[in-house]
This record gives sequence, structure tokens and C-alpha cells, in this order.
Amino acid sequence: MQILVLYHSRNGHTRQTAEAIAETIRNVGHRVTIKSVIEVRQADVEQADLLFIGTWVQGFILFGVKPAAADLWIPALPTLTGKSVAIFCTYAFNPRRSLSKLTNLLAARGATVIGQQAFQRNHSTDGAGDFAKRILATLGYCVICCVPDFVEVCSQHQTLHKIGY
Ligand SMILES: Cc1cc2nc3c(=O)[nH]c(=O)nc-3n(C[C@H](O)[C@H](O)[C@H](O)COP(=O)(O)O)c2cc1C
Repeated sequence: MQILVLYHSRNGHTRQTAEAIAETIRNVGHRVTIKSVIEVRQADVEQADLLFIGTWVQGFILFGVKPAAADLWIPALPTLTGKSVAIFCTYAFNPRRSLSKLTNLLAARGATVIGQQAFQRNHSTDGAGDFAKRILATLGYCVICCVPDFVEVCSQHQTLHKIGY
């Protein structure tokens, strides 16, 4: 698959999570492009079979915790119609409903959100690889190589496939 990892980061934690996700996907054998939400172009999205989109979260006294600056960067994204997207965020204390808010905002741009995970900023890469593998498995890909259908069982990785990771 061609996979696009997009991040919205102010101080680098979300970028680190995005990089860890991209590294895992690349090691499995898929093609990966990683960009900030400001850099992304329509062609990047069109070419992608799967996207990961991550942001940091920001709290407001009256409005709760939200994906930061989502009203600016989400409308500026290329259309996501027909695209499967896995979402993530980084936070300091509690992400609260940030990921469900992000789901709704991306669904309004045409995306189908297929998975999500929040990462505490002091451990922003812990579990990022497992998150990426879980999403690949959701789509029926082997999690240790890029063989696409583990019902057919990639012979090298039978044990892992059989336990249905
Ligand atoms: C203005 C501001 C507001 C924030 N509000 C919250 C909040 O309400 N809840 C929370 O858990 N973290 C909050 N954070 C922490 C960030 O979400 C966290 O540090 C995040 O990892 C930053 O990501 P980045 O390094 O990619 O910019 C806030 C940070 C800033 C700068």
C-alpha cells in the first residue's frame, strides 16, 4: 500500500508519534510519505490507499478539549472522499473527546475513520508501532510484511497470521 502520514504539531510530540508510525509501516514494507498538514498536496492524498492523521489537543474553558486549530487545517486539507483514515493525538493530561471530535470533522471531509489512539506527550512514541500494525491488520495486511490477505496466509509468517494478530 501507499500510506500517507499527516501531522499537526507545534512542539514536536505529534511529529515524533507520526515518525514512529511511519517507521513501523516502512519496516513492514509499505510505501510511506510523511508530511505536516500544511505541506500536504492533493496528489499526496489521491495516491494514498490509507492515511494516518494526527494532531495535538488544546483545551478551552467553555468548549472543552479539541483537536488544536482544527477549524484552520481540516478545511484546508485536500478532499478525503473515499479515504480510510486512522487518527491519533498527543496530549498532556487528558484528551477527553478530542478524537471523536476529530472523527466527526474528518468524516465531514469524506473520510472513513477506521481506528484511533491517543498518546501521552511524555511517551509520544510508546505503542505507536503497535497502533500502526493494528490498523494494517484491520485492513487484512500482515503486520510483519506487506502481504495483503492473511486469510491466504503468507507462508513466512504463518504463526502470527493464524493467531489473527
Ligand atoms: C495552549 C495549549 C493548550 C493545551 N491544552 C491541553 C488540554 O486541554 N489537555 C491536554 O491534555 N493537553 C493540553 N495541551 C498539551 C498538548 O496537547 C501536548 O503538549 C501535545 O503533545 C503538544 O503536541 P506537539 O508537541 O506536537 O505540539 C495544551 C498545550 C497547549 C500549548
